[in-house]
Amino acid sequence: MSVLVTGATGFLGRRLVRLLREDGVDVCCLVRPSSDVEPLRRTVGNDLWNGVDVRAAELSNEEACREAMTGCSVVYHVAAGLGGSTSTLFLSSVVPTRTVMRAAADANLQRFVLVSSLGVYGTSTMRAGDLLDEQSPIDPYPHLRDPYTYSKVMQERAAREVSKETGLPLVIVRPGVIIGPGRGVLSARVGLQLGPLMVRMGGTQTLPYTYVDNCASAIRQAGLADGVEGEVFNLIDDDLPTAKGLLRMCKCAGEKVTSVWVPRQLIQPMAGTYDWYHRWSRGQLPGVLTPYRTASIWKPLRYTNQKAKDRLRWQPDVSFDEAFRRSLNGVEADHLGNRGRI
Ligand SMILES: NC(=O)c1ccc[n+]([C@@H]2O[C@H](COP(=O)([O-])OP(=O)(O)OC[C@H]3O[C@@H](n4cnc5c(N)ncnc54)[C@H](OP(=O)(O)O)[C@@H]3O)[C@@H](O)[C@H]2O)c1
Repeated sequence: MSVLVTGATGFLGRRLVRLLREDGVDVCCLVRPSSDVEPLRRTVGNDLWNGVDVRAAELSNEEACREAMTGCSVVYHVAAGLGGSTSTLFLSSVVPTRTVMRAAADANLQRFVLVSSLGVYGTSTMRAGDLLDEQSPIDPYPHLRDPYTYSKVMQERAAREVSKETGLPLVIVRPGVIIGPGRGVLSARVGLQLGPLMVRMGGTQTLPYTYVDNCASAIRQAGLADGVEGEVFNLIDDDLPTAKGLLRMCKCAGEKVTSVWVPRQLIQPMAGTYDWYHRWSRGQLPGVLTPYRTASIWKPLRYTNQKAKDRLRWQPDVSFDEAFRRSLNGVEADHLGNRGRI
């Protein structure tokens, strides 16, 4: 069996390629001409590298995409921009998704797996304690959150449109914050990182995290499991910590984390004041703390991974304690060095 993976040089894509090779699947990696392939080669290892075919082309080149897909049955579309302006993210995530999917439809592929994000849900209108699952609504105003969330919502929309137009079977996976060696464990879900200071927002919120190898194994299954075409899967691990619990774990592990705490009741009033000042001063402070964004990301919600376990026959094999240890002690250099985000 052969599959095509985009974003194979990234933090998640590298692990996915390795897992597929461990299963004996041949993998064509469609990378950018500018991509550094060395970290992928190191992650896959010499023994498994012989089943990897690396092709360099821009994802906007439909002909090159089609050619690379010859003989493949599944596309794993992992590539996406993680930072930058709205227009940059649309160009690196939304536009290429259409091209790669059209090529996959022309090449008669059996399945297209899109790696989206758990951030696409409209959590601003959910109540504390609500369960977030695959039935939860998509954010109707993602442009009020941040450019990344906006691009992921629009990427999913583009994928559904092309799937409907062409009949290409689509599976969408929505990982939570991906942690692992090189990425550390702290994220915007804990609070705002201001230089060396972590401003913890609330603390009782469960962190929707997934360890990179657990996440990659669920994504592999999304391409291989029977009868999941048209489905969506949230990917998060078991035994997730709260924000407060995670900071405690960091301190117990000897990490130097300086944090201050904003109680949950104060988050919204603080965001309102900050946003007012941001507008009044015409952007003297960056517009990072808006009431909409605040209501979306620091709410204590419940999460479930039951659907992925049942339908993908998946289990997050690495426990959270082990994932935490590996993420703190991991030595693998991350070529981007950015924090996990969803
Ligand atoms: N990290 C998280 O916490 C998280 C959470 C939820 C969902 N996700 C999703 O998971 C996927 C992978 O994330 P990651 O953390 O592995 O990101 P990453 O390390 O930044 O890797 C991104 C990959 O996409 C490629 N890429 C970016 N823009 C591209 C473009 N315009 N054309 C072709 N390739 C392009 C990069 O290629 P180069 O090597 O050439 O740069 C790289 O291989 C993304 O779809 C992301 O939205 C991530």
